[in-house]
Amino acid sequence: MIIYDLGETTMKARKAGRIGVLTSGGDAPGLNAVIRAVVKTGGSLGYEVLGIAKGFEGLLGEPQYKVLTGADVRGVLPLGGTILQTTNKGHFGGQHIAGAEDDPYVEALQNINRLDLTGLITIGGEGTQRIALELFRMGAPVIGVPKTIDNDLAGTDRTFGFDTALQVATDAIDRLHTTAASHDRVMVLEVMGRHAGWIALHSGIAGGADAILIPEIPFDIQKVADSIMARERSGSTFSIVVVAEGAMSRGGQVVYQADGRLGGVGFMLTERLTQITGKDCRCVVLGHLQRGGPPTPYDRILATRYGAAAVNAISDGITGEMVALHAQEITTVPLEEACGHVKTVRPHNDLIRTARSLGITFGD
Ligand code: F6P
Repeated sequence: MIIYDLGETTMKARKAGRIGVLTSGGDAPGLNAVIRAVVKTGGSLGYEVLGIAKGFEGLLGEPQYKVLTGADVRGVLPLGGTILQTTNKGHFGGQHIAGAEDDPYVEALQNINRLDLTGLITIGGEGTQRIALELFRMGAPVIGVPKTIDNDLAGTDRTFGFDTALQVATDAIDRLHTTAASHDRVMVLEVMGRHAGWIALHSGIAGGADAILIPEIPFDIQKVADSIMARERSGSTFSIVVVAEGAMSRGGQVVYQADGRLGGVGFMLTERLTQITGKDCRCVVLGHLQRGGPPTPYDRILATRYGAAAVNAISDGITGEMVALHAQEITTVPLEEACGHVKTVRPHNDLIRTARSLGITFGD
């Protein structure tokens, strides 16, 4: 990406004003679809759109940005990742300590003012919207767009990226089914989901898993093993277990890898299930395959609706809010709503009850 310096674009004539857009936190399929919608909608309303590079980091020091035109977003609708690049945490990672020396928030705000932004569109998950809220409280005209494959952002029914991750996870389960059945094996699939089991729950049901283990329902390994052996006795000599990376056993802890990153519960489960059931068990960790590649049509449409809505909100003078999906309609909610808590799976929700009625175990 070519980064222009500040002087070059301040000279440009603007009619409606200038909108900044940035992508922050882990990437998710659909980021480029949002950027494209912002550029196209912004252009049609007479805004100049600046693409800020590498999340909020691009607002530090000499701001890093590029004026985005239709040519910059041509062909990006089906493209995974983000043409603006992103940063996870970076200088904004810790708690904001107002008045601290070299406060990155103050620096970012100064640059938002220097760039004369009418609005700053912050595309990201909970961490991103927290930073956005803090900047809003300091006077920045921010508007959030909800992103995360985990679908755990509060204030909206859906985040874009989730549907694509779900598609990838469901496809993986379909593929694991045929190999599991051919070898009479237990296949354990570890999917993403740090605090919430949305991907595991939805893909487990869509893929016909036999056990679904999620952070919201601590599991008992013996109960998972019992249900595998009950299947065995009924003539189903293979099983599929889907486990969210943030799931934990009853009285146990979340599992971390040697480098301190979340993950490893799938391998732990596989080892224990092998010991208890005596069956041949294998583990597959789906990892970042869930985040990369082209967004599904659903995510492309949702991301496009969010991008257009964010620009329209700015045009209507709305800031300090996040665009959101409520009962199929696009609306806005205060940023506080997105930051207050993580949207987890309620243990008695309809999908959990549906899964249980089909005989799927949650290991509880
Ligand atoms: O928040 C989305 C997520 O996909 C989590 O499920 C996962 O734990 C995390 O991102 C991994 O992010 P990274 O590898 O980029 O640190």
